[in-house]
Amino acid sequence: MIIAPSLLASNFGRLEKEVKRVNAAGADWLHLDIMDGHFVQNISFGPAVVKTLRPFSKLFFDVHMMCSKPEILLEPFARAGANQINIHVELGAQVTPLIWRIRALQCKVGLAINPPTAISLVQPYLAHIDSLLIMTVNPGFGGQSFIYETLPKIQQACAWRQEKKLKFHIGVDGGIDFKTAPECAQAGADAFISGTALFNQRSLKRAVKKMRLDCKKFELVETA
Ligand code: DX5
Ligand code: ZN
Repeated sequence: MIIAPSLLASNFGRLEKEVKRVNAAGADWLHLDIMDGHFVQNISFGPAVVKTLRPFSKLFFDVHMMCSKPEILLEPFARAGANQINIHVELGAQVTPLIWRIRALQCKVGLAINPPTAISLVQPYLAHIDSLLIMTVNPGFGGQSFIYETLPKIQQACAWRQEKKLKFHIGVDGGIDFKTAPECAQAGADAFISGTALFNQRSLKRAVKKMRLDCKKFELVETA
């Protein structure tokens, strides 16, 4: 079970402290949302910010590219210290070359899918990715409500993973809180990206621990 706080929900006025806080909280990944104002209607931060934050943490940096032209940013993010780069399946024909480019940069490969996109679109790539990121809100902003219609996608991805004996993570991103995280775990998710719900807690450490334990209960039920 991977718990990945999303930096988007942190205080941008003191990013260094926030990254150190995520580190000390015992989280597994730090999720970094990159928005270009075109693929989504918001702008976040770029490789220079990620590079600045890299020395403050040994956490696995999970970069989520919500960008129309990720090809121009892959190398800058890899150099900035990304461990995994997620690109969107909605980019169509570009997906395969992007996957190979990310691999060539020695980063793990993530593939993200938006709520309205059919899950069948990710199927051809499953043997070539390390992580599938199922968006559980329409990307662009933190603090939105979880879209329940995405749950069957998690179940389908989990069934394919078992069937094909693959090992990719199934991540969920958007509206993940103490209620929805266990629901996603029950459906087969194992990586939980959470911004608002985690950063809103007074003790991030306790929140990370609680979310992990709550999700693990379902992991045990599944393997029993
Ligand atoms: C949404 C981003 C998410 C976001 C999640 O576009 O991809 O990673 O930070 O934030 P919450 O947990 O607040 O929905
Ligand atoms: Zn994200």
